[in-house]
Amino acid sequence: MEKIKFIDLFCGIGGFRIAMEEACRENDLIPECVFSSDIDTFCQDSYEANFGHRPTGDITKVDEKDIPDHDILFAGFPCQPFSIIGQMQGFNDIRGTLFFDIARILKHKRPKAFVLENVKQLVGHDKGRTLKIIIKTLQELGYHVQYAVLNALDYGLPQKRERVIIVGHREPIMFSFPSPVRPFKPLSEILEKKVDKKYYASEYIVNKRKAKHKSAYKLSIWHENKAGNICSYPYSCALRAGASYNYLLVNGERRLTPREMFRLQGFPDIYKIVVNDSQARKQAGNAVPVNLVKAVILKLLPYVASSLDMTSVLREYEVEYGKG
Ligand SMILES: C[S@@+](CC[C@H](N)C(=O)[O-])C[C@H]1O[C@@H](n2cnc3c(N)ncnc32)[C@H](O)[C@@H]1O
Repeated sequence: MEKIKFIDLFCGIGGFRIAMEEACRENDLIPECVFSSDIDTFCQDSYEANFGHRPTGDITKVDEKDIPDHDILFAGFPCQPFSIIGQMQGFNDIRGTLFFDIARILKHKRPKAFVLENVKQLVGHDKGRTLKIIIKTLQELGYHVQYAVLNALDYGLPQKRERVIIVGHREPIMFSFPSPVRPFKPLSEILEKKVDKKYYASEYIVNKRKAKHKSAYKLSIWHENKAGNICSYPYSCALRAGASYNYLLVNGERRLTPREMFRLQGFPDIYKIVVNDSQARKQAGNAVPVNLVKAVILKLLPYVASSLDMTSVLREYEVEYGKG
């Protein structure tokens, strides 16, 4: 069986890694993570407990020459470069941003392909200039680049979470982003049956919410926006690392448990949660939705693994564009 080597940058708790491992197994490929990095020690604890390997810390301190060869680079990089990248021109100018660390690794290692993930706001930031510089820099490095905004709700998860996904390949491949798949998993498969009392909001909060809103759904997640308006859906709004405690309430009554949050991000139940509730909330809120990136990886793998047959790719091409 063919081995596919990858690196997991800004790896957090390993959302990309789970997606890649599942996608490879479904295609009789052997995934091998040859390098991972995250600066947060609690993320390192979670990653180590689940993958048996502790990620390296600060990527800005890692010499690209010390990173092993790999076929695919994954990175869900932090939003930090947004405010500064827009005024820059390209590779020679982006130093000091965390995106530069991705670029310098790509420049030196030249993997066949990469998948980057970021918040949807990247697309409109600074009137589109920030994303334009990111794409231009990746193209300067010799990659063919495509991007799309995808929603986790369209890939089987009951969470509205929109993310920009940037895919690059050294060759001009016929890659297209995966089509949406519905239905998404019902909340009945996400919510735990027995939940500790500590997750319930105070009577005061519950009464206040219920006086304002009545849900149309038997199982729902209630969301209160900044203006104090409440809405509820049979799915969750985006989990957020720094959200206030009562930002999302199951049936208007209780907070999500860590396991429910991990399920909403597509992490399987065998994933061990080894940190306290507040860290788990932060980790789930920062993670990449596994199902969403897995759908992207499944479309990309035929262009990375030489043993995979291209029939499905070509069939899709015929369906989309007609036979010649
Ligand atoms: C948006 S999160 C990515 C989460 C990941 N995709 C997952 O599924 O959990 C960004 C991550 O970048 C990490 N990070 C920030 N600065 C870093 C640095 N200088 N070196 C390495 N990791 C860094 C943060 O600790 C955070 O976990």
